[in-house]
Amino acid sequence: MDISIIGAGYVGLCSAAGLALKGNKVICADVDPKKIEKINTGEPPIEEPGLKEALDSTRDKLTATTDINDAVLRSSVTFICVGTPSTDDGSIDLSFVKAASEAVGKALRGRGYHLVVVKSTVVPGTTEDTVLPIIEKSSEKRAGAGFGLCTNPEFLREGSALEDFLNPDRIVIGEFDRKAGDALAKLYQNFNSPVVRTGLKTAEMIKYASNAFLASKISLINEIGNICKSLGVDAYTVAEGVGYDKRIGRAFLNAGVGFGGSCFSKDVLALTHKAKETGNTTPILDEVIKANKEQRKRIIELLKKKITLKSRRISILGLAFKEGTGDVRDSPAVDIVRYLLLEGASVVAYDPKATDNFRKIFPDINYAETARQAIDRSDACLVLTSWDEFRSMQDADFEGMKSKIIIEGRHVLDTNRVTGFEGICW
Ligand code: NAD
Ligand code: UDX
Repeated sequence: MDISIIGAGYVGLCSAAGLALKGNKVICADVDPKKIEKINTGEPPIEEPGLKEALDSTRDKLTATTDINDAVLRSSVTFICVGTPSTDDGSIDLSFVKAASEAVGKALRGRGYHLVVVKSTVVPGTTEDTVLPIIEKSSEKRAGAGFGLCTNPEFLREGSALEDFLNPDRIVIGEFDRKAGDALAKLYQNFNSPVVRTGLKTAEMIKYASNAFLASKISLINEIGNICKSLGVDAYTVAEGVGYDKRIGRAFLNAGVGFGGSCFSKDVLALTHKAKETGNTTPILDEVIKANKEQRKRIIELLKKKITLKSRRISILGLAFKEGTGDVRDSPAVDIVRYLLLEGASVVAYDPKATDNFRKIFPDINYAETARQAIDRSDACLVLTSWDEFRSMQDADFEGMKSKIIIEGRHVLDTNRVTGFEGICW
Protein backbone atom coordinates (compact mmCIF):
# COMPACT_ATOMS: atom_id res chain seq x y z
CA MET A 1 0.00 0.00 0.00
CA ASP A 2 1.01 3.64 -0.39
CA ILE A 3 0.98 5.24 3.04
CA SER A 4 1.57 8.77 4.30
CA ILE A 5 2.40 9.49 7.93
CA ILE A 6 1.82 12.96 9.34
CA GLY A 7 4.20 13.64 12.23
CA ALA A 8 7.55 11.87 12.12
CA GLY A 9 8.27 11.64 15.86
CA TYR A 10 8.68 8.46 17.90
CA VAL A 11 5.39 6.96 16.84
CA GLY A 12 5.27 8.34 13.30
CA LEU A 13 8.79 7.40 12.32
CA CYS A 14 8.79 3.98 13.98
CA SER A 15 5.41 3.18 12.40
CA ALA A 16 6.75 4.40 9.05
CA ALA A 17 9.85 2.23 9.33
CA GLY A 18 7.78 -0.75 10.47
CA LEU A 19 5.28 -0.39 7.63
CA ALA A 20 8.11 0.02 5.10
CA LEU A 21 9.78 -3.14 6.46
CA LYS A 22 6.47 -4.89 5.85
CA GLY A 23 6.71 -3.96 2.17
CA ASN A 24 4.64 -0.77 1.98
CA LYS A 25 5.70 2.47 0.32
CA VAL A 26 5.72 5.12 3.03
CA ILE A 27 6.13 8.89 2.96
CA CYS A 28 6.57 10.79 6.23
CA ALA A 29 5.52 14.44 6.49
CA ASP A 30 6.58 16.70 9.32
CA VAL A 31 6.65 20.45 9.95
CA ASP A 32 10.22 20.13 11.23
CA PRO A 33 12.59 20.39 8.21
CA LYS A 34 15.60 19.20 10.26
CA LYS A 35 13.85 15.92 11.03
CA ILE A 36 12.91 15.47 7.40
CA GLU A 37 16.45 16.08 6.22
CA LYS A 38 17.84 13.55 8.67
CA ILE A 39 15.32 10.89 7.71
CA ASN A 40 16.09 11.40 4.04
CA THR A 41 19.80 10.94 4.68
CA GLY A 42 19.11 7.72 6.61
CA GLU A 43 19.92 9.29 9.97
CA PRO A 44 17.21 8.65 12.60
CA PRO A 45 16.44 11.86 14.54
CA ILE A 46 15.69 9.70 17.60
CA GLU A 47 17.60 6.89 19.31
CA GLU A 48 15.77 3.60 18.86
CA PRO A 49 17.27 0.13 18.51
CA GLY A 50 17.11 -1.12 14.92
CA LEU A 51 15.79 2.15 13.50
CA LYS A 52 18.96 3.11 11.65
CA GLU A 53 19.18 -0.36 10.09
CA ALA A 54 15.48 -0.14 9.16
CA LEU A 55 15.97 3.24 7.47
CA ASP A 56 18.99 1.88 5.61
CA SER A 57 17.22 -1.21 4.38
CA THR A 58 14.05 0.62 3.27
CA ARG A 59 15.64 3.50 1.36
CA ASP A 60 13.66 2.65 -1.75
CA LYS A 61 10.41 2.52 0.26
CA LEU A 62 10.60 5.26 2.89
CA THR A 63 10.95 8.96 2.11
CA ALA A 64 10.17 12.15 4.00
CA THR A 65 8.90 15.61 3.14
CA THR A 66 7.68 18.84 4.71
CA ASP A 67 4.92 18.98 2.09
CA ILE A 68 1.88 17.38 3.74
CA ASN A 69 -0.30 17.95 0.70
CA ASP A 70 2.12 16.06 -1.52
CA ALA A 71 2.50 13.23 0.99
CA VAL A 72 -1.27 12.72 1.15
CA LEU A 73 -1.61 12.88 -2.63
CA ARG A 74 1.00 10.16 -3.07
CA SER A 75 -0.85 7.74 -0.77
CA SER A 76 -4.16 5.99 -0.26
CA VAL A 77 -3.92 5.80 3.54
CA THR A 78 -2.83 8.61 5.87
CA PHE A 79 -1.86 8.11 9.52
CA ILE A 80 -2.02 11.12 11.83
CA CYS A 81 0.80 10.68 14.38
CA VAL A 82 1.33 14.22 15.71
CA GLY A 83 1.84 14.97 19.41
CA THR A 84 -1.02 15.39 21.89
CA PRO A 85 0.68 17.11 24.84
CA SER A 86 -0.95 18.39 28.02
CA THR A 87 -2.24 21.93 28.33
CA ASP A 88 -1.40 23.84 31.51
CA ASP A 89 -4.40 22.37 33.33
CA GLY A 90 -3.50 18.81 32.28
CA SER A 91 -6.24 18.42 29.68
CA ILE A 92 -5.32 17.27 26.19
CA ASP A 93 -3.92 19.82 23.71
CA LEU A 94 -5.46 18.92 20.37
CA SER A 95 -3.99 21.81 18.41
CA PHE A 96 -1.54 19.62 16.44
CA VAL A 97 -4.22 17.05 15.68
CA LYS A 98 -6.55 19.79 14.48
CA ALA A 99 -3.88 21.36 12.26
CA ALA A 100 -2.92 17.97 10.79
CA SER A 101 -6.58 17.05 10.20
CA GLU A 102 -7.18 20.29 8.36
CA ALA A 103 -4.08 19.85 6.19
CA VAL A 104 -5.08 16.27 5.35
CA GLY A 105 -8.65 17.35 4.56
CA LYS A 106 -7.45 20.11 2.22
CA ALA A 107 -5.23 17.64 0.39
CA LEU A 108 -8.20 15.32 -0.10
CA ARG A 109 -10.35 17.95 -1.79
CA GLY A 110 -11.36 16.73 -5.25
CA ARG A 111 -9.76 13.32 -4.77
CA GLY A 112 -11.22 9.83 -4.59
CA TYR A 113 -11.78 7.69 -1.49
CA HIS A 114 -8.87 7.87 0.99
CA LEU A 115 -8.46 6.29 4.43
CA VAL A 116 -7.47 8.57 7.33
CA VAL A 117 -6.25 6.89 10.52
CA VAL A 118 -5.73 8.68 13.83
CA LYS A 119 -2.80 7.03 15.59
CA SER A 120 -2.08 9.88 17.99
CA THR A 121 -3.43 9.19 21.48
CA VAL A 122 -6.64 11.21 21.72
CA VAL A 123 -9.31 11.24 24.44
CA PRO A 124 -12.46 9.25 23.69
CA GLY A 125 -14.73 11.11 21.29
CA THR A 126 -11.97 13.13 19.60
CA THR A 127 -11.89 11.32 16.25
CA GLU A 128 -15.66 11.55 15.86
CA ASP A 129 -16.27 14.99 17.38
CA THR A 130 -13.13 16.87 16.32
CA VAL A 131 -11.19 15.13 13.54
CA LEU A 132 -14.21 14.07 11.48
CA PRO A 133 -15.88 17.51 11.20
CA ILE A 134 -12.54 19.21 10.45
CA ILE A 135 -11.76 16.78 7.62
CA GLU A 136 -15.33 16.97 6.29
CA LYS A 137 -15.16 20.77 6.20
CA SER A 138 -11.69 21.09 4.69
CA SER A 139 -12.12 18.24 2.17
CA GLU A 140 -15.72 19.08 1.26
CA LYS A 141 -16.39 15.34 1.51
CA ARG A 142 -18.53 13.17 3.77
CA ALA A 143 -16.97 10.60 6.09
CA GLY A 144 -17.82 7.12 4.90
CA ALA A 145 -18.47 8.16 1.30
CA GLY A 146 -15.62 10.53 0.40
CA PHE A 147 -13.07 9.32 2.93
CA GLY A 148 -12.74 6.54 5.47
CA LEU A 149 -11.91 7.19 9.11
CA CYS A 150 -10.31 4.93 11.73
CA THR A 151 -8.50 5.30 15.00
CA ASN A 152 -5.63 2.92 15.60
CA PRO A 153 -3.97 3.59 18.97
CA GLU A 154 -0.30 2.75 19.29
CA PHE A 155 1.12 0.82 22.26
CA LEU A 156 4.85 0.85 21.44
CA ARG A 157 7.34 1.57 24.20
CA GLU A 158 10.37 3.76 23.71
CA GLY A 159 13.60 1.79 23.71
CA SER A 160 11.87 -1.08 21.88
CA ALA A 161 9.62 0.98 19.62
CA LEU A 162 10.25 -0.71 16.29
CA GLU A 163 10.09 -4.21 17.73
CA ASP A 164 6.85 -3.31 19.58
CA PHE A 165 5.33 -1.80 16.45
CA LEU A 166 6.09 -4.94 14.46
CA ASN A 167 4.98 -7.38 17.17
CA PRO A 168 2.21 -5.72 19.16
CA ASP A 169 0.27 -7.63 21.84
CA ARG A 170 -2.82 -6.56 19.91
CA ILE A 171 -3.88 -4.28 17.10
CA VAL A 172 -6.87 -2.10 17.91
CA ILE A 173 -8.92 -0.85 14.98
CA GLY A 174 -11.59 1.70 15.79
CA GLU A 175 -13.72 2.20 12.72
CA PHE A 176 -16.24 4.77 11.56
CA ASP A 177 -17.71 2.10 9.28
CA ARG A 178 -16.96 -1.41 8.06
CA LYS A 179 -15.35 -0.23 4.81
CA ALA A 180 -12.74 1.85 6.66
CA GLY A 181 -12.07 -0.93 9.20
CA ASP A 182 -11.65 -3.51 6.45
CA ALA A 183 -9.12 -1.30 4.64
CA LEU A 184 -7.05 -0.86 7.79
CA ALA A 185 -7.30 -4.55 8.71
CA LYS A 186 -5.91 -5.35 5.25
CA LEU A 187 -2.87 -3.21 5.96
CA TYR A 188 -2.17 -5.23 9.11
CA GLN A 189 -2.90 -8.64 7.58
CA ASN A 190 0.78 -9.67 7.57
CA PHE A 191 1.16 -8.92 11.30
CA ASN A 192 0.94 -11.84 13.69
CA SER A 193 -1.17 -10.22 16.43
CA PRO A 194 -4.77 -10.42 17.60
CA VAL A 195 -6.97 -7.69 16.14
CA VAL A 196 -9.71 -5.97 18.13
CA ARG A 197 -12.22 -4.21 15.89
CA THR A 198 -14.53 -1.73 17.47
CA GLY A 199 -16.01 1.75 17.24
CA LEU A 200 -13.90 4.90 17.27
CA LYS A 201 -14.58 5.93 20.86
CA THR A 202 -14.01 2.45 22.29
CA ALA A 203 -10.63 2.18 20.56
CA GLU A 204 -9.62 5.54 22.00
CA MET A 205 -10.69 4.40 25.46
CA ILE A 206 -8.71 1.14 25.18
CA LYS A 207 -5.53 3.20 24.85
CA TYR A 208 -6.28 5.33 27.93
CA ALA A 209 -7.43 2.36 29.99
CA SER A 210 -4.18 0.52 29.14
CA ASN A 211 -1.98 3.40 30.21
CA ALA A 212 -4.12 4.03 33.31
CA PHE A 213 -3.70 0.38 34.36
CA LEU A 214 0.05 0.35 33.77
CA ALA A 215 0.63 3.64 35.60
CA SER A 216 -1.56 2.43 38.49
CA LYS A 217 0.36 -0.83 38.69
CA ILE A 218 3.61 1.08 39.11
CA SER A 219 2.26 3.49 41.73
CA LEU A 220 0.78 0.55 43.63
CA ILE A 221 3.99 -1.49 43.62
CA ASN A 222 5.89 1.63 44.69
CA GLU A 223 3.54 2.05 47.64
CA ILE A 224 4.00 -1.64 48.53
CA GLY A 225 7.76 -1.20 48.06
CA ASN A 226 7.86 1.76 50.45
CA ILE A 227 6.10 -0.34 53.10
CA CYS A 228 8.45 -3.27 52.40
CA LYS A 229 11.47 -1.05 53.07
CA SER A 230 10.12 -0.03 56.49
CA LEU A 231 9.38 -3.66 57.33
CA GLY A 232 12.76 -4.95 56.14
CA VAL A 233 11.02 -7.01 53.46
CA ASP A 234 12.52 -7.35 49.97
CA ALA A 235 10.14 -5.64 47.54
CA TYR A 236 11.51 -7.53 44.54
CA THR A 237 10.99 -10.94 46.14
CA VAL A 238 7.45 -9.80 46.91
CA ALA A 239 7.03 -8.78 43.26
CA GLU A 240 8.25 -12.21 42.17
CA GLY A 241 5.84 -13.98 44.51
CA VAL A 242 2.95 -11.78 43.47
CA GLY A 243 3.84 -11.85 39.78
CA TYR A 244 3.37 -15.60 39.42
CA ASP A 245 -0.33 -14.99 39.95
CA LYS A 246 -1.59 -15.01 36.37
CA ARG A 247 -4.27 -12.51 37.23
CA ILE A 248 -1.54 -10.00 38.18
CA GLY A 249 1.58 -10.89 36.17
CA ARG A 250 5.20 -9.93 36.92
CA ALA A 251 5.48 -7.10 34.35
CA PHE A 252 5.40 -3.54 35.67
CA LEU A 253 5.99 -4.58 39.27
CA ASN A 254 9.44 -2.99 39.49
CA ALA A 255 9.28 -0.66 42.45
CA GLY A 256 11.49 2.40 42.34
CA VAL A 257 11.55 6.09 41.62
CA GLY A 258 8.38 5.85 39.54
CA PHE A 259 7.24 6.33 35.99
CA GLY A 260 8.25 9.04 33.59
CA GLY A 261 8.08 9.45 29.85
CA SER A 262 5.90 11.19 27.36
CA CYS A 263 2.76 9.12 27.92
CA PHE A 264 1.77 7.92 31.38
CA SER A 265 1.36 11.20 33.29
CA LYS A 266 0.04 13.05 30.25
CA ASP A 267 -2.52 10.40 29.35
CA VAL A 268 -3.71 9.70 32.88
CA LEU A 269 -4.16 13.45 33.41
CA ALA A 270 -6.03 13.82 30.12
CA LEU A 271 -8.33 10.96 31.10
CA THR A 272 -9.08 12.49 34.50
CA HIS A 273 -9.98 15.76 32.76
CA LYS A 274 -12.22 13.98 30.29
CA ALA A 275 -13.82 12.15 33.22
CA LYS A 276 -14.65 15.46 34.92
CA GLU A 277 -16.32 16.68 31.73
CA THR A 278 -18.57 13.64 31.90
CA GLY A 279 -19.43 14.20 35.58
CA ASN A 280 -17.16 11.45 36.93
CA THR A 281 -14.54 11.61 39.65
CA THR A 282 -11.22 9.75 39.45
CA PRO A 283 -9.92 9.36 43.01
CA ILE A 284 -7.70 6.39 42.13
CA LEU A 285 -6.10 7.95 39.05
CA ASP A 286 -5.59 11.27 40.87
CA GLU A 287 -3.68 9.39 43.55
CA VAL A 288 -1.65 7.44 40.95
CA ILE A 289 -0.24 10.72 39.64
CA LYS A 290 0.24 12.24 43.07
CA ALA A 291 1.98 9.14 44.44
CA ASN A 292 4.30 9.10 41.43
CA LYS A 293 5.35 12.70 42.11
CA GLU A 294 5.85 11.90 45.81
CA GLN A 295 8.16 9.03 44.91
CA ARG A 296 10.52 11.51 43.27
CA LYS A 297 10.58 13.56 46.48
CA ARG A 298 11.11 10.42 48.53
CA ILE A 299 14.60 9.84 47.14
CA ILE A 300 15.54 13.41 48.15
CA GLU A 301 14.09 12.84 51.64
CA LEU A 302 16.15 9.65 51.99
CA LEU A 303 19.24 11.56 50.93
CA LYS A 304 18.54 14.40 53.36
CA LYS A 305 18.48 11.89 56.20
CA LYS A 306 22.14 11.20 55.39
CA ILE A 307 23.58 14.63 54.55
CA THR A 308 22.62 18.28 54.30
CA LEU A 309 22.43 19.20 50.65
CA LYS A 310 23.62 22.80 50.61
CA SER A 311 26.88 23.15 48.65
CA ARG A 312 27.20 19.37 48.25
CA ARG A 313 28.21 17.81 44.97
CA ILE A 314 25.63 15.20 44.02
CA SER A 315 26.23 12.82 41.15
CA ILE A 316 23.28 11.57 39.14
CA LEU A 317 23.58 8.36 37.14
CA GLY A 318 20.81 8.18 34.56
CA LEU A 319 18.83 11.08 33.09
CA ALA A 320 16.59 9.28 30.58
CA PHE A 321 13.10 8.38 31.81
CA LYS A 322 14.00 4.75 31.19
CA GLU A 323 16.87 2.70 29.80
CA GLY A 324 17.34 2.35 26.04
CA THR A 325 16.22 5.87 25.11
CA GLY A 326 17.61 9.40 25.07
CA ASP A 327 14.16 10.80 25.90
CA VAL A 328 13.92 12.91 29.07
CA ARG A 329 10.25 13.91 28.81
CA ASP A 330 8.82 13.82 32.34
CA SER A 331 11.90 11.94 33.48
CA PRO A 332 12.15 11.55 37.28
CA ALA A 333 15.67 13.01 36.93
CA VAL A 334 14.19 16.36 35.85
CA ASP A 335 12.24 16.86 39.10
CA ILE A 336 15.02 15.38 41.21
CA VAL A 337 17.71 17.66 39.79
CA ARG A 338 15.36 20.62 40.26
CA TYR A 339 14.86 19.69 43.96
CA LEU A 340 18.63 19.31 44.44
CA LEU A 341 19.33 22.72 42.93
CA LEU A 342 16.62 24.30 45.09
CA GLU A 343 18.35 22.82 48.15
CA GLY A 344 21.60 24.52 47.08
CA ALA A 345 23.41 21.37 45.92
CA SER A 346 25.53 21.23 42.78
CA VAL A 347 24.84 18.44 40.31
CA VAL A 348 27.12 16.41 38.06
CA ALA A 349 25.19 14.13 35.77
CA TYR A 350 25.91 11.19 33.52
CA ASP A 351 23.75 9.36 31.00
CA PRO A 352 24.93 7.31 28.02
CA LYS A 353 22.24 8.71 25.69
CA ALA A 354 20.17 11.50 27.22
CA THR A 355 22.76 14.19 28.01
CA ASP A 356 22.00 16.40 25.01
CA ASN A 357 18.27 16.42 25.73
CA PHE A 358 18.82 17.04 29.43
CA ARG A 359 21.20 19.89 28.70
CA LYS A 360 18.34 21.70 26.94
CA ILE A 361 16.48 21.80 30.27
CA PHE A 362 19.49 22.24 32.57
CA PRO A 363 22.26 23.96 30.58
CA ASP A 364 24.18 24.97 33.72
CA ILE A 365 24.72 21.75 35.65
CA ASN A 366 27.87 19.68 35.11
CA TYR A 367 27.85 16.75 32.72
CA ALA A 368 30.34 13.90 32.87
CA GLU A 369 31.60 11.71 30.04
CA THR A 370 31.50 8.55 32.12
CA ALA A 371 29.71 7.30 35.22
CA ARG A 372 32.99 7.18 37.10
CA GLN A 373 33.84 10.76 36.19
CA ALA A 374 30.47 11.86 37.60
CA ILE A 375 30.91 9.88 40.81
CA ASP A 376 34.47 11.04 41.57
CA ARG A 377 34.59 13.74 44.26
CA SER A 378 30.83 13.67 44.76
CA ASP A 379 29.32 13.72 48.25
CA ALA A 380 26.46 11.42 47.26
CA CYS A 381 25.23 9.54 44.22
CA LEU A 382 21.67 8.89 43.00
CA VAL A 383 20.96 6.19 40.40
CA LEU A 384 17.81 7.01 38.43
CA THR A 385 17.78 4.95 35.21
CA SER A 386 18.34 1.19 34.77
CA TRP A 387 21.06 1.37 32.15
CA ASP A 388 22.80 -1.99 31.73
CA GLU A 389 26.22 -0.44 32.28
CA PHE A 390 25.18 0.42 35.86
CA ARG A 391 24.48 -3.27 36.55
CA SER A 392 28.14 -4.13 36.22
CA MET A 393 29.40 -1.29 38.44
CA GLN A 394 31.43 -2.30 41.45
CA ASP A 395 32.83 -0.85 44.66
CA ALA A 396 35.95 0.34 42.83
CA ASP A 397 33.81 2.66 40.70
CA PHE A 398 32.70 4.52 43.82
CA GLU A 399 36.15 4.75 45.44
CA GLY A 400 36.62 8.39 44.43
CA MET A 401 33.55 9.63 46.34
CA LYS A 402 34.04 12.01 49.24
CA SER A 403 31.61 9.92 51.23
CA LYS A 404 30.06 6.71 50.02
CA ILE A 405 26.40 7.68 50.04
CA ILE A 406 24.54 5.95 47.24
CA ILE A 407 20.78 5.82 46.89
CA GLU A 408 19.36 4.02 43.97
CA GLY A 409 15.93 4.26 42.45
CA ARG A 410 15.89 1.47 39.88
CA HIS A 411 17.15 -1.72 41.54
CA VAL A 412 19.99 -1.81 39.06
CA LEU A 413 23.12 -1.99 41.24
CA ASP A 414 24.24 -5.51 42.06
CA THR A 415 24.61 -6.15 45.81
CA ASN A 416 27.37 -8.66 45.07
CA ARG A 417 29.47 -5.94 43.45
CA VAL A 418 28.55 -2.74 45.27
CA THR A 419 28.29 -2.56 49.05
CA GLY A 420 26.72 -0.02 51.36
CA PHE A 421 24.09 1.49 49.08
CA GLU A 422 20.45 2.05 49.88
CA GLY A 423 17.47 1.54 47.58
CA ILE A 424 14.43 3.78 47.48
CA CYS A 425 12.14 0.84 48.37
CA TRP A 426 14.72 -1.74 49.50
P1 NAD B 1 6.71 13.46 18.98
O1 NAD B 1 6.65 14.78 19.64
O2 NAD B 1 7.94 12.63 19.07
O3 NAD B 1 6.38 13.63 17.42
C1 NAD B 1 5.33 14.39 16.92
C2 NAD B 1 5.77 14.95 15.58
O4 NAD B 1 4.67 15.63 14.97
C3 NAD B 1 6.87 16.00 15.68
O5 NAD B 1 7.96 15.59 14.87
C4 NAD B 1 6.25 17.30 15.19
O6 NAD B 1 7.15 18.14 14.51
C5 NAD B 1 5.17 16.77 14.27
N1 NAD B 1 4.07 17.69 13.99
C6 NAD B 1 3.42 18.51 14.84
N2 NAD B 1 2.42 19.16 14.19
C7 NAD B 1 2.44 18.73 12.91
C8 NAD B 1 1.65 19.00 11.77
N3 NAD B 1 0.62 19.85 11.82
N4 NAD B 1 1.96 18.40 10.61
C9 NAD B 1 3.00 17.53 10.54
N5 NAD B 1 3.77 17.21 11.60
C10 NAD B 1 3.50 17.79 12.77
O7 NAD B 1 5.45 12.64 19.54
P2 NAD B 1 5.33 11.06 19.75
O8 NAD B 1 6.02 10.67 20.99
O9 NAD B 1 5.64 10.37 18.48
O10 NAD B 1 3.76 10.94 20.03
C11 NAD B 1 2.82 11.12 18.99
C12 NAD B 1 1.48 10.62 19.49
O11 NAD B 1 1.56 9.22 19.77
C13 NAD B 1 1.01 11.27 20.80
O12 NAD B 1 -0.38 11.36 20.78
C14 NAD B 1 1.45 10.27 21.85
O13 NAD B 1 0.67 10.34 23.02
C15 NAD B 1 1.22 8.95 21.13
N6 NAD B 1 2.06 7.84 21.59
C16 NAD B 1 3.37 8.05 21.91
C17 NAD B 1 4.16 6.96 22.31
C18 NAD B 1 5.61 7.12 22.69
O14 NAD B 1 6.17 6.21 23.26
N7 NAD B 1 6.24 8.23 22.39
C19 NAD B 1 3.59 5.67 22.36
C20 NAD B 1 2.26 5.52 21.99
C21 NAD B 1 1.50 6.60 21.62
C1 UDX C 1 4.47 3.57 27.75
C2 UDX C 1 3.55 2.36 27.53
O1 UDX C 1 4.15 1.19 28.11
C3 UDX C 1 3.31 2.14 26.05
O2 UDX C 1 2.40 1.06 25.85
C4 UDX C 1 2.73 3.42 25.48
O3 UDX C 1 2.51 3.24 24.10
C5 UDX C 1 3.65 4.62 25.73
O4 UDX C 1 3.90 4.71 27.14
P1 UDX C 1 7.06 4.05 27.56
O5 UDX C 1 6.70 5.31 28.27
O6 UDX C 1 7.89 4.13 26.35
O7 UDX C 1 5.73 3.27 27.16
O8 UDX C 1 7.84 3.10 28.57
P2 UDX C 1 7.44 2.03 29.68
O9 UDX C 1 8.29 0.85 29.50
O10 UDX C 1 5.99 1.82 29.77
O11 UDX C 1 7.93 2.77 31.02
C6 UDX C 1 7.35 3.97 31.47
C7 UDX C 1 7.95 4.38 32.79
O12 UDX C 1 7.58 3.49 33.82
C8 UDX C 1 9.48 4.41 32.79
O13 UDX C 1 9.91 5.56 33.50
C9 UDX C 1 9.86 3.16 33.54
O14 UDX C 1 11.10 3.24 34.17
C10 UDX C 1 8.73 3.09 34.54
N1 UDX C 1 8.49 1.72 35.07
C11 UDX C 1 8.13 0.72 34.22
C12 UDX C 1 8.59 1.49 36.44
O15 UDX C 1 8.90 2.40 37.21
N2 UDX C 1 8.35 0.23 36.90
C13 UDX C 1 8.00 -0.81 36.09
O16 UDX C 1 7.78 -1.91 36.58
C14 UDX C 1 7.89 -0.55 34.70
